[in-house]
Amino acid sequence: MPQVKLQGLKTIDVQDGRRLVVAIEEAGIDILHRCGGLAKCTTCRVELIDGDAGGMTDAERARLAQEDALDPNVRLSCQIMCHNDLTVRVINRLSETDLSDAGPPPSEELQPAPA
Ligand code: FES
Repeated sequence: MPQVKLQGLKTIDVQDGRRLVVAIEEAGIDILHRCGGLAKCTTCRVELIDGDAGGMTDAERARLAQEDALDPNVRLSCQIMCHNDLTVRVINRLSETDLSDAGPPPSEELQPAPA
């Protein structure tokens, strides 16, 4: 079972193959996911500090390519399926915004479905 260290927050055991954004939210961390996990908004982004998060999906690569100012270690947590131990930093939390909710709940399956 992969362990995910949420830097500065807690370390969680994550079911193998769990979607990272879902695992973070289930751990009680109010991560944003404003597009519902569709790789459209980037609010679910995390800084990958350590570990193998797997390759990017086409949707993640395409969405991050639209951003100039992001650190190269930034990944979209809605596009990561947890298979290995990771250390990440959650970048956007609902409690640090004026928004009324984090966004539509992401499904447990990877979306958009890989081609
Ligand atoms: S890009 Fe919108 S929730 Fe991941």
